[in-house]
Amino acid sequence: MHSCRVLVTRKIPGSGLFRLQEFCEVTILNEPPSYKELLNMVPGYNGLLTMLSDKITSEIIDAAGPDLRIISNYAVGFDNIDVEYATENSIIVAHTPDVLTDSTADLAWALLMATARRLIEGDQLTRTEKWKAWSPTFMLGLDVHHKTLGIVGLGRIGLAVAKRALAFDMKVLYFSRTRKYEIESKFGIEYRTLDDLLRESDFISLHVPLTPETEGMIGAKQLQMMKSTAILINTARGRVVDEDALIHALKESQIRGAGLDVYREEPTHNRELLKLPNVVLTPHLGSATIETRIKMADLAINNLINGLTHQYDRVKIVNPSVLKKLKK
Ligand code: DGY
Repeated sequence: MHSCRVLVTRKIPGSGLFRLQEFCEVTILNEPPSYKELLNMVPGYNGLLTMLSDKITSEIIDAAGPDLRIISNYAVGFDNIDVEYATENSIIVAHTPDVLTDSTADLAWALLMATARRLIEGDQLTRTEKWKAWSPTFMLGLDVHHKTLGIVGLGRIGLAVAKRALAFDMKVLYFSRTRKYEIESKFGIEYRTLDDLLRESDFISLHVPLTPETEGMIGAKQLQMMKSTAILINTARGRVVDEDALIHALKESQIRGAGLDVYREEPTHNRELLKLPNVVLTPHLGSATIETRIKMADLAINNLINGLTHQYDRVKIVNPSVLKKLKK
């Protein structure tokens, strides 16, 4: 007889699930549950292994009931979870930082290159046999090397993107809530206020978590500050950008283009956005490599098992203040 019950809201890669099954009674869902389905399903579980697309509200936490001890999110971001309410209810919230840093930075870089050098347009043109002849003025993009990259949010992923930029001989600027003097001198990157960064950068890449402070931080005013040749890259969270303002800026050529992996609503059905020629759009693929998704699975499962066995120092905890409420 297992002493715990865990709900995993989607099949995750790797062999970690077998480990979890040895330890707990595990229910794994094959399809993404609707909010209502999740609400009906959660009562009685001790642990939830959730995806960033599962909204874990106070209502879901209440429905789960007093036996719920840990929510292990299969993502580094945790804006899908009411962390404050979880903490009030003595529930650990865990996430998967570090293991996805480089893959997400690679994807941001791929979007930046694809947008600047018009890779997707070029691919479509070649496939549809619309490429008539080589020409000196045909499908010109923008140089990336020796340009200025502005990083908004110099956390783990922001720094990994900055390192990639240095290999392209770029000048790197950053804006962050706190100055990171050591990183500035180690990597030769420069701090700017957000407004100055927006004015000076050729490429702007967003790497802030979604919080009440960052929601809509790139709106009409900020887009107007950018160069008309600027390219905006967003692999963070869609709602950091005012999507309507971005569409307006792209339509009016206020900026040159955007590379987006994240959207206001996911999956996006924003027709206005989908028909724009000067955007490259990917379906939230930041961490989507075979290797990284397996590492995320292992980490999310370790978080769950360690949380349920009171080994809290081995859990990547989002809400450490909850530990004061937990007794061994
Ligand atoms: C995360 O883990 O928060 C990323 O958005 C996944 O791609």
